[in-house]
Amino acid sequence: MESINVIKGYGRVNPLDDHSNPPANHRRRRSRIIAVSLVVFLTLIIAALVAALIHESATESDEPEPSQLASNSAEHLKTVCSVTRFPDSCFSSISPLNSPPSNSPLRFFNLSLHASVLEVSSLKNLLTVPTADPAMKDCAELFDDAASQLRRSAELICVGSGEKALTEMKISDLQTWISAAMTDQETCLDGLAETGSTALDEFKLKVQKSQEYMSNTLAILNNIQSLFDKFGLTMP
Ligand SMILES: *[C@@H]1O[C@H](CO)[C@@H](O)[C@H](O)[C@H]1NC(C)=O
Repeated sequence: MESINVIKGYGRVNPLDDHSNPPANHRRRRSRIIAVSLVVFLTLIIAALVAALIHESATESDEPEPSQLASNSAEHLKTVCSVTRFPDSCFSSISPLNSPPSNSPLRFFNLSLHASVLEVSSLKNLLTVPTADPAMKDCAELFDDAASQLRRSAELICVGSGEKALTEMKISDLQTWISAAMTDQETCLDGLAETGSTALDEFKLKVQKSQEYMSNTLAILNNIQSLFDKFGLTMP
């Protein structure tokens, strides 16, 4: 109401009167108009500054430069891998899968798990040729079991929104299943050791590699809470 009156009043002001000897109420109106304009002007400037600040902080926290995030997540991955027995294979197995880059320990755990699944499945492919060697036959069955233990682990952490990906119960199940998969591989290696064939050396190395991946996965899982704490993140 006030501002409407001000504008109406201003419209009626005769500019000549205004310059020579403006009546007192015109002067009051004029100074009110100046005051209102000043407030509007200052409000606009403050709003623009606030908007600029919000934009800046939003781009800082939510969308850093891709290269920045990539190097940042490489640092995070190094920290995650430092809890494992084989930090080099941890880093080299997870890093190529970490796209788009992420800093979440849960994602690193998931990627380590997936690297293990891929590795164990590729072992199975090496055994498609029918073999007479009983140790190799055992290995084929053990790989199947290991792969299914790892796959059910991967399924367990695939949750809908609102559901917790990691509860104490889930962590305990994951520990059991991944350890079982490792035992499968160990049993295969033990069986192969008894045959003493050097032709199997390369194959054994591949089995060992999958063992490393699973060991890394388990170590990340065992330290997941402290990794979330270290990164200042909340466990989902
Ligand atoms: C785990 O990673 C795989 C491969 O990138 C992806 O397909 C899957 O959706 C991920 N699972 C979760 C729970 O993020």
